[in-house]
Amino acid sequence: ENEPTVSITVVGASGDLAKKKIFPALFALYYEDCLPQQFTIYGYARSKMSDADLRHMVSKTLTCRIDKRENCTEKMEQFLKRCFYHSGQYDSPENFAELDKKLKEHEGGRVSNRLFYLSIPPNIFIDSVRCASLSASSGNGWTRVIVEKPFGRDSESSAALTKALKQYLEEDQIFRIDHYLGKELVENLSVLRFSNLIFEPLWSRQYIRNVQLIFSEDFGTEGRGGYFDNYGIIRDIMQNHLLQILALFAMETPVSLDAEDIRNEKVKVLRSMRPLQLENMVVGQYKSHTKGGVTYPAYTDDKTVPDDSLTPTFAAAALFIDNARWDGVPFLMKAGKALHNKRAEIRVQFRHVPGNLYNRNFGTDLDCATNELVIRVQPDEAIYLKINNKVPGLGMRLDRSNLNLHYAARYSKEIPCAYERLLLDAVEGERRLFIRSDELDAAWALFTPLLKELEEKKIIPEYYPYGSRGPVGAHYLAAKYNVRWGDGVDQ
Ligand code: BG6
Repeated sequence: ENEPTVSITVVGASGDLAKKKIFPALFALYYEDCLPQQFTIYGYARSKMSDADLRHMVSKTLTCRIDKRENCTEKMEQFLKRCFYHSGQYDSPENFAELDKKLKEHEGGRVSNRLFYLSIPPNIFIDSVRCASLSASSGNGWTRVIVEKPFGRDSESSAALTKALKQYLEEDQIFRIDHYLGKELVENLSVLRFSNLIFEPLWSRQYIRNVQLIFSEDFGTEGRGGYFDNYGIIRDIMQNHLLQILALFAMETPVSLDAEDIRNEKVKVLRSMRPLQLENMVVGQYKSHTKGGVTYPAYTDDKTVPDDSLTPTFAAAALFIDNARWDGVPFLMKAGKALHNKRAEIRVQFRHVPGNLYNRNFGTDLDCATNELVIRVQPDEAIYLKINNKVPGLGMRLDRSNLNLHYAARYSKEIPCAYERLLLDAVEGERRLFIRSDELDAAWALFTPLLKELEEKKIIPEYYPYGSRGPVGAHYLAAKYNVRWGDGVDQ
């Protein structure tokens, strides 16, 4: 058979991300018959392991979808037979050349496509890209590299990283992952806007009062303090995940669904944004808290975090897009660790109904609430629209009700993990959900001056108890723009 082969090498195979996300996602793709017939998976890392050791490690991470238990164990065994391991240094061209030799054996002279997934810390990015590209590129097919953030920590370091990558790779070989773009409801944003009549006409300053992008986790940085302390929540979540959602939310209609058309529109949004200002930002850090006899740690209790660290674990910001569609509409972002719940959502608050009859005739006790559209990215995916409705009965009483699209009730399918979609896209060469370098530059340009100022002025974060709703400063920031956070009202 002359079908091309694809070899997927997970560089940093024993790391957390590989175990938690990458191998399980590859298995799910295999199970769904989405991988090419001829594929091989290689784990690459420094530790000495045999193929059997890797298979054992991977086997513990694999799960079957709830709705697809059939043949699952069998499928797992078949999948594991396609997984191999090569031990090597990340900066050794010789070790990558050995890998190349092994890959060639599997490829058996067919057209060979190669995908490298760099699941490694940023300080060894460039070395491994250099070695992979010089010693283990495909001779007759494509070679692509998936990279994970952090893509630098400010404009300069990010530009330096891009420049270094481009010594060895063309832009179209680089797949920069932002896994939030692979989430089902984020992907659905464009479907919602561009394939329904009723949303797009409202999608502007004329009808939308503010947009909220909210990320919260109910656990701290446990175990990741070493990485986190050098980045903080603004770089970890806002500059990428939330900003990417914002760009998709706010972009103009693209010419087509092609990657370049979509990314052109996203980059326009980012470049129309006002650089962030300190007065539009609130930073916080969690402190220890005892509840029900359990003591939850402070951020600085982590041994890998300096005692006097000012790194924010929470931030809220007001951003503005200075273009015709969004002029004056606050886009409020909030992201935090060690809060009272775990969720990611987009909230769109609409304006008041002008001259609302029901406010006029019934006075303040019936003050009509404004409409709000909520897109709950996770958990328990849903899209719901809050409307005012008459409570059935002879009297005239209004309440707020939801038009509710609850995924679990509507679709019996389990929602694939973001990494499945993104890995599949990378194998297929679909770049729509990956970050182009000019998008990355624009994203950094927006946040870099503020990040520098925060660090130079040594701004003290507002301390909030582990498991709380975060600093009150976030409420004052919203109030400055006459806004109330929607997540405080309905949970
Ligand atoms: C990562 C961040 O990009 O996203 C983590 O580095 C965060 O700090 C994670 O926990 C959240 O991803 P998800 O998919 O679990 O919401």
